Amino acid sequence: MGELVVGIDVGTTKVCTIVGEVREADIHVLGVGIEPSHGMRKGAVVDVNALSGAISSSVHKAERTSGYEIGRAFVSLAGSHVESVNSTGVVGVSNQRGVQYNDLSRAMDAARAVSLPHGREVLHVIPRNYTLDEQTGLRSPIGMLGFRLEVEAHIITAATASIQNLEKCIEAAGVYVDRFILNPLAAGDAILTENEREAGVMVVDIGGGTTDIAMFVDGAVWHTAVIAVGGQHISNDIAHGLHLPFELAEAVKLEHGHADLQAISPLEAFPVQPFGEELPSKVQRADLVHIINARVAEIFELIMKEAKRSGYDSLLRAGIVLTGGSSLLPGMRQVAAETLNVPVRIAQPDNITGMVEALKSPAYSTSVGLLKLGLIMDLEDERRRNLHKNGSREARVDFGGLLKRAFSRLLPGEEDEG
Ligand SMILES: Nc1ncnc2c1ncn2[C@@H]1O[C@H](COP(=O)(O)OP(=O)(O)OP(=O)(O)O)[C@@H](O)[C@H]1O
Ligand SMILES: [Mg+2]
Repeated sequence: MGELVVGIDVGTTKVCTIVGEVREADIHVLGVGIEPSHGMRKGAVVDVNALSGAISSSVHKAERTSGYEIGRAFVSLAGSHVESVNSTGVVGVSNQRGVQYNDLSRAMDAARAVSLPHGREVLHVIPRNYTLDEQTGLRSPIGMLGFRLEVEAHIITAATASIQNLEKCIEAAGVYVDRFILNPLAAGDAILTENEREAGVMVVDIGGGTTDIAMFVDGAVWHTAVIAVGGQHISNDIAHGLHLPFELAEAVKLEHGHADLQAISPLEAFPVQPFGEELPSKVQRADLVHIINARVAEIFELIMKEAKRSGYDSLLRAGIVLTGGSSLLPGMRQVAAETLNVPVRIAQPDNITGMVEALKSPAYSTSVGLLKLGLIMDLEDERRRNLHKNGSREARVDFGGLLKRAFSRLLPGEEDEG
């Protein structure tokens, strides 16, 4: 029996708990618990009791299906309180031995030491690239000779209170939070190819309450953002526009929704029962699609703005990979490609084994990505701890080729360290 790993994706519309077993080449899914979410709005906790109830149900279901008791888990995090900055850290290195793993680690600590406003904390520090003396853009300076090592790092911060609220909900469900992981990093891990990361790509997870973005350039994370608009806003617009209760608007969206005006016939219509009317009335599908298209176009414009704001928009040679439940809306790919003028594909997790039928949808990219990325980050921390403890360069065993490959993506330098 390999090591067990658990991820809890706490979304605005669903909570998804996955129990996996770490195997040589992959993570094998042993149990899944998917339950509707309550008490979250735009990726933030608004009702602790309701949310911990939803988390409990999801955890119990995953325990029943896997036959294991869940004690700790990696947990997804998003919300408009999440911010990111790029920062540099500089350290001196001994020119005799060349750059050691320990030097990278010290440079990262220096980069991490940004001054944060009260009430915020660092969630992730991810190296983008290194400069050794005059040599810039190094991915892996281990073993190279030089005096001055600089790391450029991407730092993601979050509001302490928001993190604590979510932690409280998870703990109320009897689970200890191993670590929080930003949604789009997890999603990126589940669906991006190595080639896309190298070429430059933006992963966009359009969920229920938020749209989460991560930009990868030269194989590393360069920019992340969370936009507080998602599929629930589309359903809200439909509810307002057609005078329907929210649940009915949601159902209408799933049954008749389309994002692309050009793709539907102007003659199509369907019956609904609006508020205050005795009999069902007929709605032109074009009216529905107008409402949806306006919101979808807004979401893509916000995405484009964020890409421009990062300054890396021209580096996305592989374009955009769309995921999240709302990417299932027909016509999303076309509207995205037209608005953003880059290649677009829609992705869902594959390359997973075991109990995976329920997870093969874009809605579960973040949920699946949590397991592997959580493990990678844990290994990295452990290696760092060991390093500080006894100066050893080796952490405990790693979990075979898969993690090693994934590891090198997160921490440039790993593959050169023999
Ligand atoms: N076939 C579909 N057509 C249109 N929208 C869909 C479809 N399937 C799911 N959705 C929408 O996807 C959204 C849920 O997506 P997802 O499960 O990724 O969200 P979440 O993870 O719960 O929320 P978030 O990550 O934003 O907190 C809902 O708004 C739902 O209406
Ligand atoms: Mg989500």
